[in-house]
Amino acid sequence: TVPISTVSAKSASQLGSRDMPRPYAAAFYRPAPLRPASTSVDADGATVNHYRITMRQADAQILPRKKTSILGYNGLFPGPTIELEQGTRAVVKVRNQLPKNHPKLGYLMATSTHLHGSATLPEYDGYASDVTPAGFYKDYHYPNFQPARTLWYHDHGVHFTAQNVYSGLAGLYLMHDPVERELLPQGAFDVPLVISDAMFASDGSLGYDDRDRSGLWGDVILVNGRPWPVMKVQPRVYRFRILNASISRSYRPTLSTGDAVHIVATDGGLMPATQSVRNWRHGPAERYEVLIDFSKYRPGQRIELRNLSNPNNRDYDHTNKIMAFDVVAPPSESAMKLDPKWNQIPGTLAGSEVMQLTRGDAEEKRSFRVQRADVGKPWTINEVTWEDVIASNFKLASADPRLGAVEVWEFENKSGGWFHPMHIHLVDFKILSRNGKAPFPYERGPKDVVYVGEGEKVELAMKFGPHKGRYMVHCHNLPHEDHSMMIQFRVGLGEDDPDEHDPISAAP
Ligand code: C2O
Ligand code: CU
Repeated sequence: TVPISTVSAKSASQLGSRDMPRPYAAAFYRPAPLRPASTSVDADGATVNHYRITMRQADAQILPRKKTSILGYNGLFPGPTIELEQGTRAVVKVRNQLPKNHPKLGYLMATSTHLHGSATLPEYDGYASDVTPAGFYKDYHYPNFQPARTLWYHDHGVHFTAQNVYSGLAGLYLMHDPVERELLPQGAFDVPLVISDAMFASDGSLGYDDRDRSGLWGDVILVNGRPWPVMKVQPRVYRFRILNASISRSYRPTLSTGDAVHIVATDGGLMPATQSVRNWRHGPAERYEVLIDFSKYRPGQRIELRNLSNPNNRDYDHTNKIMAFDVVAPPSESAMKLDPKWNQIPGTLAGSEVMQLTRGDAEEKRSFRVQRADVGKPWTINEVTWEDVIASNFKLASADPRLGAVEVWEFENKSGGWFHPMHIHLVDFKILSRNGKAPFPYERGPKDVVYVGEGEKVELAMKFGPHKGRYMVHCHNLPHEDHSMMIQFRVGLGEDDPDEHDPISAAP
């Protein structure tokens, strides 16, 4: 197999040069906020925000002069952003008003919505086989007790997650808490960047080619649904919440100036301490929150955010670019002084509970091998596929941790030439080791996805709970997940313990 780093996206799009977007021609766009439709108070006195989201087909203006048909939450690409405080609960009514069949690929559009980064009861987790057909809706309940973080919601429909997410079914969900409010930039200086890649057919529609279920590498890089945008920034510290929402591509972001950026949070929120790095490896579904200090640059200067993992720049391949920042003069001295505490790089952050875990706390160690026997064969985890789980009538579980147990899970990548971003539902974990050494500085924070590179082995520590039930583990290269690199584990369910929150029997 070909190492993905050398796969060229050459000619992935079939657009003519007039229609192909030019890097740094598009203006920066901030995903639309989603206001609650109503609020209520539940029996425990907690505020509950009620949101409504409708999945539908829409035309998006991604390219300069052609419309692109997308499938979007509220018809948006990316979907609307939910933003709330820790302790505020959320009920999200997700309506499936998609066409019955995918407009281009023909499969049935039955969806399941996963909030990535939330510990919910299994029936609200977006379990892959718990699908809502077109014409139906489902209410998802989210408790929001976890530390502040950047979450995202995306489709998880069995077998077609890759196409659905690629077509636009992904959005952000930002949770704040008092610790994070105090430490990190807020409001206009707290900026989400949803990075994805795409390829286009000559009529402007999205092209889909997952190269024999290996992965899709588009030749157009999108940030918040715009190709290689330019954002105007003031000469001060900004916080970027960077989500890699690409279905397969990983990035190695870096600044064109060669200056360091400051990583302050990972998937599960604040790290114990800021880590300053010149670049980092950013796999699908991972979130890195990064502070960039633009105060050392002059107004008029352009700073690019580049992608080191594709050094090729053949023909029309600009996947070595992500976006650019144009430094502008600050509006006034007084505006700069508004929030001096956010205009610096903090050193010590917050110790999320999971970061205290040690190897000695674990009562069990489990190992998972991820691989594929050959091209055309399914991707497996310990030789198990999601097909096997379906065939067992959802009985087959690859791990049975006790509720509240601390365990060490090891993932070893045996599939030559491929990397696998492994995601475990329900829990945050700490990376204990990578190839027997300390994890990279930028991944020393709470995580729910871990990049397992070619030939690599990682060890993770995690604590299971607070909910019993069945949850999934899978590769977040979504064509791998769909074919069929996904298994399930059962938390706190003994042999004869019925699962009252069974996601399958909760399906409509
Ligand atoms: Cu982001 Cu199970 O997925
Ligand atoms: Cu994979």
